[in-house]
Amino acid sequence: MAILITGGCGYIGSHTCIELLAAGYDIVVVDNYYNAKPEALRRVQELAGKSFPFYECDIRDADGLRRVFREHAIDAVIHFAGLKAVGESVQKPLEYYDNNVGGTVTLCQVMAEFGCKRIVFSSSATVYGMNNPSPLREDMPTGAVTNPYGRTKYVIEEILKDVCVSDPQWTAVLLRYFNPIGAHESGRIGEDPNGIPNNLMPYISQVAIGRLPQLSVFGDDYDTPDGTGVRDYIHVVDLATGHVKAVDYALGHTGAEVFNLGTGVGYSVLDLVKAFEKANGVPVPYVIAPRRPGDIATCYSDPSKAQKVLGWKAVHNVEDMCRDSWRWQSQNPQGYGE
Ligand code: NAD
Ligand code: UD1
Repeated sequence: MAILITGGCGYIGSHTCIELLAAGYDIVVVDNYYNAKPEALRRVQELAGKSFPFYECDIRDADGLRRVFREHAIDAVIHFAGLKAVGESVQKPLEYYDNNVGGTVTLCQVMAEFGCKRIVFSSSATVYGMNNPSPLREDMPTGAVTNPYGRTKYVIEEILKDVCVSDPQWTAVLLRYFNPIGAHESGRIGEDPNGIPNNLMPYISQVAIGRLPQLSVFGDDYDTPDGTGVRDYIHVVDLATGHVKAVDYALGHTGAEVFNLGTGVGYSVLDLVKAFEKANGVPVPYVIAPRRPGDIATCYSDPSKAQKVLGWKAVHNVEDMCRDSWRWQSQNPQGYGE
């Protein structure tokens, strides 16, 4: 029973490879190295004590994908491959639609050709948009997104639902991630952003190690307990085990189903800064800066559906997330290097 993992060299994909191997699945990985380095998979194989087939292939390359499906009996696909920088998506919308939406369509076409009709997709809490109150539930309306990246996630969700309606043999498990942070507890794999990070935790870690001088806290006048933005941070290893449960589910069900993967607990920017300083004993200097356009005050999940249906629950707390992020950053100050 082999699971194809697109984007398996990336941050969430690499952690998911480890958990799938630990659960006894065979895996095949496809990545075009757009936002990843070969060293990540080398370390995954070292940590897992197992090797597995890898293809350097773009998911928009139908013939490249056909080769993978010809050479392996794939039972299900976990589809991580995609571009994910919100600001960049505003500058380069066509690249985002081509890569994320076009790539998913090509992938699904090739899957159908080979009779593989089970997909687990990396969606995002961003599809809930600006108008829903937290805690966010899967049955709330989606689509009021404010940027091309978010729209690709919304559109892909709709495409996969349509595919399931058109052919009852298809299964699509749509996983809406909240804010993944942390790293494998070995400190060997973690998030390795290119350039200056956009997201909060990699920024905090790079300030703590001295690569960046200080954190800018984007707004302290939101309607939240301390005025800074509140998010549902989830340990990447919990997210990875959520994918194992989602694959188990996909192998036994048909149709489209949506699940939040979050903890259900919101932390503010300053909560996270303080938790990081306390867990690791390192200072994180910060200044208050203007709000970032497109940000909302509060976003956290109701994770009860995943618990009830998948039997999955996040088990790591914010201290674990801060400690593991720092272990990765401090042991790998330049990420995976060149
Ligand atoms: P990542 O950039 O680390 O991983 C994505 C991987 O996909 C990279 O290894 C990249 O090289 C590869 N890739 C991109 N385009 C490709 C293509 N056309 N063909 C083959 N490979 C390609 O990102 P991540 O944080 O691991 O995110 C994984 C998925 O989860 C993405 O779809 C992302 O949008 C989604 N997501 C991430 C977050 C987050 O906070 N990290 C939140 C919500 C959703
Ligand atoms: C962002 C994206 C979202 C995407 C997610 C994961 C936006 C508007 N949203 O979510 O679509 O799915 O990343 O990639 O970009 N913050 C600071 N200073 C910083 C960085 C962040 O104060 O330098 C604050 C933000 O204002 C926010 C919180 O930290 O309140 C979390 O920000 P971030 O990590 O970027 O995640 P989101 O904005 O929730």
